[in-house]
Amino acid sequence: MGSCLALRALAVAVWVAAAYPVVFRARPVQAAGLAANWGTRALHPLPGDITVRLLRDNGFGKVKLFEADAAALQALGHSGIQVMLGLPNELLAPVAASVNAAEQWVLQNVSSYVSRYGVDIRYVAIGNEPFLKSYKGKFESLTLPAVQNVQAALVKAGLARQVRVTVPLNADVYESSDGRPSSGDFRADITGLMVSLVRFLLDNGGILTINIYPFLSLDADPNFPVDYAFFPSPGAPPSQASVQDGNVLYTNVFDANYDTLIAALEKHGLGAIPVIVGEIGWPTDGDRNANAASAMRFNQGLFDRIIAGKGTPRRPTMPDVYVFALLDEDNKSTDPGNFERHWGVFNYDGTPKYRLNLAGGRPLVPAKGVRYLSKQWCVLRPDASPTDPAIGGAVEYACQYSDCTSLGAGSSCGGLDARGNVSYAFNQFFQAANQQKGSCSFNNLSVITTTDPSQGACRFHIQIDTGRHELTGKSDAAVRVAGLSWSATVLGLVGGLVAAAW
Ligand SMILES: *[C@@H]1O[C@H](CO)[C@@H](O)[C@H](O)[C@H]1NC(C)=O
Ligand SMILES: *[C@@H]1O[C@H](CO)[C@@H](O)[C@H](O)[C@H]1NC(C)=O
Ligand SMILES: *[C@@H]1O[C@H](CO)[C@@H](O)[C@H](O)[C@H]1NC(C)=O
Ligand SMILES: *[C@@H]1O[C@H](CO)[C@@H](O)[C@H](O)[C@H]1NC(C)=O
Repeated sequence: MGSCLALRALAVAVWVAAAYPVVFRARPVQAAGLAANWGTRALHPLPGDITVRLLRDNGFGKVKLFEADAAALQALGHSGIQVMLGLPNELLAPVAASVNAAEQWVLQNVSSYVSRYGVDIRYVAIGNEPFLKSYKGKFESLTLPAVQNVQAALVKAGLARQVRVTVPLNADVYESSDGRPSSGDFRADITGLMVSLVRFLLDNGGILTINIYPFLSLDADPNFPVDYAFFPSPGAPPSQASVQDGNVLYTNVFDANYDTLIAALEKHGLGAIPVIVGEIGWPTDGDRNANAASAMRFNQGLFDRIIAGKGTPRRPTMPDVYVFALLDEDNKSTDPGNFERHWGVFNYDGTPKYRLNLAGGRPLVPAKGVRYLSKQWCVLRPDASPTDPAIGGAVEYACQYSDCTSLGAGSSCGGLDARGNVSYAFNQFFQAANQQKGSCSFNNLSVITTTDPSQGACRFHIQIDTGRHELTGKSDAAVRVAGLSWSATVLGLVGGLVAAAW
């Protein structure tokens, strides 16, 4: 379904290029203008240079980082990829309290990467969803002062023209009293704050960033109409749940959600602020609504809209949309749910999880040059019993230091029997510990095998070998030491546990 729209977008682009060649050549060549979130909370992060190539190979011209991750930023230098750089919530307090702290942050985390490494930083994102209700107001008084101090620091550093400020907000900063987007307004308890913040952004060339998650809408409400969470296929009849708003029919929750914000902004005379989408996507595991088929359906609908440039009824041009996420992150907090580690369009190793058509119907291409650990897995010994009394503690321990979120009910490995279940946990730990000696020795209950224990959709992974191809900037020796010291920590803990428990 994507190729038709994509081809039409391409045809228009070609026609325009022929008519206005000069204008077009002056712009950076970025076919579809795809953008993605690059989170780095993985136990074995895909190396920066490989990730940057993955982005470029798939037409991603923009990337968002949640913090100034040195390896990622260095890899992005001179890559032609535009960067939105996050200032984490933990830094809001110091940066709000002192212009000097803001200047130091800009100096160390923005200026240095722009000038020394040639990173094309276009935006700094101050805080991440700081007005979320669940933060109970903790960041509310800090955010605008932090934005003001960073803006002043950017001016002082001579970067204010190139680098703009924004604040990524969650969709719970606005609401609609009657469910119609045109009735949109800011959440009552933060209306004044929102107006002041957006006014400041508007006056300083900034933009507003909003994170919209149809998946979470669906997941939170068992009565949420499934079809309304997705973009309708071209030509398909609108879903039963479509919302009539005046003479506009909203056929999906993304359009309705985004336009609710636009209506709120217009209500307060702030309709001129550009609004981009900072996060949107669909996870593939760890939840009953998270699977590859649904993620493919949602993201293909989204990509088709991005490629076609088709916005919402109130803002007909599609804004920049940062897909969440580029890669899975197996060390993210599971507080929001087990799905939190499975948002990637790509697996942890840069292989596509499902077919996704880009402009012209071209599918996603995998990362190149990834090196893996040896082709071996850690499993429950065939002659050991999965009901051995020591198993419970061993599995709990393995899962504490590795990612077992695929084992839950309704997840990709939720259907394993008790034996497979234990093996999965053992292997996750073994891979997380770089297959190091001693990391497959769960009190004589485990053994290494070279036969892939994967069953159907449940994949027993081999981890990436990050030691052998770490990024530029570190010597091989430093990388080896860094790799070893982490593993040693884990193994030290294993030793401690073995001594204590057995
Ligand atoms: C994984 O996350 C925990 C908790 O945030 C953190 O303490 C730890 O350093 C992380 N491990 C790695 C290898 O990044
Ligand atoms: C630069 O960013 C890193 C990562 O967010 C942070 O730990 C560090 O404190 C920042 N530097 C300054 C001076 O704020
Ligand atoms: C598999 O392991 C998970 C995590 O330890 C547990 O919640 C689940 O009940 C186990 N299932 C079976 C069949 O043993
Ligand atoms: C390990 O277990 C096997 C069978 O389960 C047993 O034959 C062997 O003696 C055990 N080894 C140790 C060191 O306990």
